[in-house]
Amino acid sequence: MIKPFIAANWKMHKTVSESVYFAKQLSAEFAEVNDRDIIIAPSYTALYPVAEELKKSPVHLSAQNMHWDEKGAFTGEVSAGMLVDAGCHYVILGHSERRTLFGEKNSDINKKIKTALKFGLKPIFCIGETLGERSSQKTFDVIRRQIRKGLNNILSDDIRRIVIAYEPIWAIGTGKTATDEQAEEAHRYIREMIADLFGENAGADIRIIYGGSVNQENIGGLMNQPNINGALVGGASLDFESFANIINF
Ligand code: PGA
Repeated sequence: MIKPFIAANWKMHKTVSESVYFAKQLSAEFAEVNDRDIIIAPSYTALYPVAEELKKSPVHLSAQNMHWDEKGAFTGEVSAGMLVDAGCHYVILGHSERRTLFGEKNSDINKKIKTALKFGLKPIFCIGETLGERSSQKTFDVIRRQIRKGLNNILSDDIRRIVIAYEPIWAIGTGKTATDEQAEEAHRYIREMIADLFGENAGADIRIIYGGSVNQENIGGLMNQPNINGALVGGASLDFESFANIINF
C-alpha cells in the first residue's frame, strides 16, 4: 500500500509571513499524522523560514523549480544545492506552467531531474496533455514522450525517489477536473510504462499523483482509484481549511 501523498503548490502566492503562518497551522493540525505524506511548496523567498518552522514537523518542504547546473553565471536562477541548503526535500520539476510559459523542454527537465537526484532532492515530475492533444486522441503519445525523455538515463534504483504528477493542462486552474475514470486511465498507463521501463517493482512502488483543479469535493473520488496515490493541489491549497480537508480526504 502506497502512502497517500498530498502536496500544495502555492505558485506565486503568499508572503514569507503568510507562508510561515500556514506552515505553523499545518504542523499543529497534523503533528501526529504518519499515514500520509504532506508537502508544501512555497515560493523561493519563503523556503528557508518555512523550513525553520517545519523542523519538528512531519510536513515536508518542496521548491517549485530549480536550474539543472550546479552553479554558475545564471542570473535569477536557483540551484539544487541551494534548495537543500534552504531545507527542501522535494522539488517540483516540469510543471506545465514552466513548460508553456517559460519554454522548458523535456530535455531540460531530464537534466533537472538528474541534478535533483544527485543532490538528494526528490523530484515531483509533472506531465500531462493539453486539451487539443486530448481531443485528437494524443494523450497517451504525449505522456509516453514526456516520460521517455524526462526519465531518460535515470537509474532504476532512483525511480523510487521520483513522484510523478499527472496534471492534464486543461484541468489546471480551470475548475475542470478530469473524471475519476480519465485520471485513473492515465495513471494506470503511467504505472505500466514505468514497469516496462524500470521493472515490475518500480512500477508497483512509484507514487503517481493527480493534479488539476483538485478540491475538497473531488479528492475522495480521485483517491478511491487504485492507481492514484495522491494530489498536487494549486488553488485549493491556498486556504488552510480547504487544504486540511483535502489532506483528510
Ligand atoms: P490547480 O493547480 O489545483 O489550481 O488546478 C494544480 C497545479 O498546477 O499543480
